[in-house]
Amino acid sequence: MAASLACSISILLIAIVSAAGNFNQDFDVTWGDGRAKILNNGQLLTLALDKGSGSGFQSKHEYLFGKIDMQLKLVAGNSAGTVTAYYLSSKGSTWDEIDFEFLGNLSGDPYILHTNVFSQGKGNREQQFYLWFDPTADFHTYSILWNPQRIIFSVDGTPIREFKNMESRGVPFPKRQPMRIYSSLWNADDWATRGGLVKTDWSKAPFTASYRNFKSEASSAAAPWMSQQLDATNQQRLAWVRRNYMIYDYCKDSKRFPHGFPPECNTA
Ligand SMILES: *[C@@H]1O[C@H](CO)[C@@H](O)[C@H](O)[C@H]1NC(C)=O
Repeated sequence: MAASLACSISILLIAIVSAAGNFNQDFDVTWGDGRAKILNNGQLLTLALDKGSGSGFQSKHEYLFGKIDMQLKLVAGNSAGTVTAYYLSSKGSTWDEIDFEFLGNLSGDPYILHTNVFSQGKGNREQQFYLWFDPTADFHTYSILWNPQRIIFSVDGTPIREFKNMESRGVPFPKRQPMRIYSSLWNADDWATRGGLVKTDWSKAPFTASYRNFKSEASSAAAPWMSQQLDATNQQRLAWVRRNYMIYDYCKDSKRFPHGFPPECNTA
């Protein structure tokens, strides 16, 4: 009796843990020939990159709007030339996409967090940031809140970027095409670190990035996050990030847009 009670309690606990995200249930390894591994009963996923190949995975589910958190610990040490991409994307030639890309660096030099938003196949909306911590020393939470009015990128709960629905100005907004979650670790030493000047040091391979604590909420009309916006405190935090950690904003790059910025840049 006691044994069977203990047994059903442990089954219940397993069920609760996996509801919070289990890599075996929620994701498929899609490439990398054994370099991507799901470990600890689905609680941890690792991607590896060596000279032969990178690796990647994707979600089984598709999301049409979502609130998605993932903890990542990036390639440590000399990660120059490597890119860890973590993004949502739909399919087809007029796809939508919401990107986090982490560009590695030499030991002690900062990673760049590169972000972009594609709507109906058009991106060119890059913003880049340094982080206020070492993203290789521990796991940190990278979140995407995507509702019909806005997309908010956050790091450890601090918003770093907001892309608002500006359909009223003729800017397409992702809202009809369901997206999957994708992640991959690959070699991009032709452009990633100092614009491609620093090459991948293959003597340091394999390079490894780790994932845990995946949480997702698919949309339901009643979910509060479906109409969530940045409150005053979070607007201040976003401004703090932009002031101190933003290193590139396409909306400030007048050389690139000599004839005027894209309409979504004019937030006045
Ligand atoms: C790498 O470090 C250099 C030197 O601090 C810096 O200029 C660069 O932005 C860093 N990040 C990347 C991805 O190149």
